[in-house]
Amino acid sequence: MTTRPRKPAPNTPAPGKLPLPELDELKQRGEKIAMVTAYDAPSGRLADEAGVDIILVGDSAAMVVLGYDSTVPASMDEMVMLTRAVTRGARRPLVIADMPFGSFQISDEAALENAIRFVKDAGADGVKLEGAGPTLSRVRALVGAGIPVMGHIGLTPQSATMLGGFKAQGRSAERARQLLADARELEAAGCFSLVLEAVPAPVAKQITSTLSIPTIGIGAGVDCDGQVLVWHDLLGLYAGHAPRFVKQYANLAPEIRAALERFVGEVRSGAFPETQHTYAMTEEELAVFSEATVK
Ligand code: KIV
Repeated sequence: MTTRPRKPAPNTPAPGKLPLPELDELKQRGEKIAMVTAYDAPSGRLADEAGVDIILVGDSAAMVVLGYDSTVPASMDEMVMLTRAVTRGARRPLVIADMPFGSFQISDEAALENAIRFVKDAGADGVKLEGAGPTLSRVRALVGAGIPVMGHIGLTPQSATMLGGFKAQGRSAERARQLLADARELEAAGCFSLVLEAVPAPVAKQITSTLSIPTIGIGAGVDCDGQVLVWHDLLGLYAGHAPRFVKQYANLAPEIRAALERFVGEVRSGAFPETQHTYAMTEEELAVFSEATVK
């Protein structure tokens, strides 16, 4: 009889999982980290098969999956459900759940409760929090409880109104210095990595060389330790306006639409289904069935 659990307990790495400390080693070796967002099990599996290192279950889900105009309406229940789906599909990549607006702003205790939900109920390997300043004590509380935290500064969509809209940050010397100071504080608070969004490339380069934790850039230039893109932007699935930092690697929306149009056409014409898509029954059973229905 074995006393070893068949599955790892929550918050312990599953077999085959990329060990978190390896991210630091990748940085030290100058090997780039690939991160992508995903929101369901099939995309988690595909990202895993493609060799992605980190999957972010971003609150961008509010816009690209749930159809809202901003990330703000994403709820804990929605984010937990999406994260759970991704962790069912992905094995090796670290799965990081984005803490939605309202889930960590109120207090360290509320932040910890919600982060624990991601780890226990959804199987996340860590969480991401936007901002610095008041976010620092949240980071300390979560890391103190053993939950890995990814920071996120620059353009932080949850506070886009305060930032004057969805635009690049840190473009003046003073703002750039503030970003560098925020980055240092987030590292000191215990973040294991830091997303830099829509930040001038030289500022991101300086932050990256100053920190010992890896930076993951989105619109922050090539000198970050890794890069992230949103699934729907990368694959050409989002109908909204794409920021200039997006590179589209496929244009799947027209292909999906064309396939659906063919399906609709074949259903209406009767061309689908064909014999190979249907089930047969024996002549004898059919005769008995027909006799019974005639009576
Ligand atoms: O929500 C998200 O997808 C993100 C990435 C853009 C970093 O925060």
